[in-house]
Amino acid sequence: MTRNDKEPGSAVSVRGLVKHYGETKALDGVDLEVREGTVMGVLGPNGAGKTTLVRILSTLLAPTAGQATVAGYDVVRQPRQLRRVIGLTGQYASVDEKLPGWENLYLIGRLLDLPRKEARARADELLERFSLTEAARRPVSTYSGGMRRRLDLAASMIGRPAVLYLDEPTTGLDPRTRNEVWDEVKRLVGDGVTVLLTTQYMEEAEQLASELTVVDRGKVIASGGIEQLKAKVGGRTLRIRPADPLQLRPLADTLDAQGITGLAGTVVDTERGAVLVPVLSDEQLTAVVGSVTARGITISSISTELPSLDEVFLSLTGHRAGAPQDAVPAETHEEAVAV
Ligand SMILES: Nc1ncnc2c1ncn2[C@@H]1O[C@H](COP(=O)(O)OP(=O)(O)O)[C@@H](O)[C@H]1O
Ligand SMILES: [Mg+2]
Repeated sequence: MTRNDKEPGSAVSVRGLVKHYGETKALDGVDLEVREGTVMGVLGPNGAGKTTLVRILSTLLAPTAGQATVAGYDVVRQPRQLRRVIGLTGQYASVDEKLPGWENLYLIGRLLDLPRKEARARADELLERFSLTEAARRPVSTYSGGMRRRLDLAASMIGRPAVLYLDEPTTGLDPRTRNEVWDEVKRLVGDGVTVLLTTQYMEEAEQLASELTVVDRGKVIASGGIEQLKAKVGGRTLRIRPADPLQLRPLADTLDAQGITGLAGTVVDTERGAVLVPVLSDEQLTAVVGSVTARGITISSISTELPSLDEVFLSLTGHRAGAPQDAVPAETHEEAVAV
C-alpha cells in the first residue's frame, strides 16, 4: 500500500499533521481517521487548532509537515480532485448578504460548473429541503441567524459532497436555532454524508458525533467513541459542594482513597468550591453519597450533570479549557527552553 492509498472505509485520514505560524504551533502532530458515513467531532476550545485543520483539509492552507487525504486524495498533491468531493460550512457565513438566498445557491452551482438548468433545479431543491423556499427571493441580509446558517448548509451541499466539514456550525446561535441546525445536520448524516464537525460544545458533540477527537493547543489529547470517552472522563459528573470549603480536599481524598469514582478521579474546583466526581453508574453515585455521609461532611449542595467541555478538559489535562499559558508553569518553562 502506498502512502496515497486510503485505508478501506476511511474518508479522512490525517497523519502527523503540523502547521506552524512562526512560534505558534497551531497544529502540532495531529492524527485523525474519519470512517465513511460517520460524524467525527473535533472538540476543543478557542485556539485549539480546529479551523486550521479544516482549512488544510479544504486545501485552503498548506501544512508545514505531515500528510492528509480526503476520499483518497492528497491535500497537497491533488487539491483539485479533493475540492470536488468536499463541502465546507465555516464559522462565518460564506454567502453574499446582498443577494437573495436563491441567487446565492444558483451562483455557487454555476461556479461548480453545473449547467444553468441543473443549477436552478438544485437551488430550488435545497431551499425546499432547508425550509427556505418562502425566503428564496429576499436578500440574505433580512434572514435570521438560523436561516443564514441553514442557507450556509444548503450552499455547502450543492456539489453533493461526500465529505462535509462543519466548522463550529452553531457557535453564536441561540439554543432554539442551534437545535434547528442540529436537526438539519442529522438529516444530512442520514443521507450518508461523512461529516467532520468542529465544536467547542460537549453537548453538540454528543448530539451529532459518534466519535470524538479532543484537541488542545494543536495536539490530540484524547480520542475514541463518545461512550468510551465519556466513561474515561466520567459518564456524569457529580458536583458536591461542602458547606465548609476547608473540607474540599479531605472530601476529594476520601473518595479517591476508596476508589469508588470513575476512572478519571476527583477534581477539586476551588474557584467554585466544589468537588467534581466522575461517576459511571447509579451504584457508584450511591456509593459516593454514602461515603460522604459516613465521613460526616456537611454538604450544602449536590448535583449531577453531563460533563461539560470544561470538565472534560479539566479531567484530561488538569487545566481548564482556554486557561492562560501562565497557569501551566511546566509548559511555559519548556517553551522558554525550546526557543
Ligand atoms: N493566519 C494565522 N496567523 C498566525 N496565527 C494563526 C493564524 N491562524 C490561526 N493562528 C493561531 O493558531 C492557533 C489555532 O487557531 P485556530 O485553528 O483558528 O483555532 P480554533 O479554530 O480551534 O479556535 C491559535 O493560536 C491562532 O491564534
Ligand atoms: Mg475556529
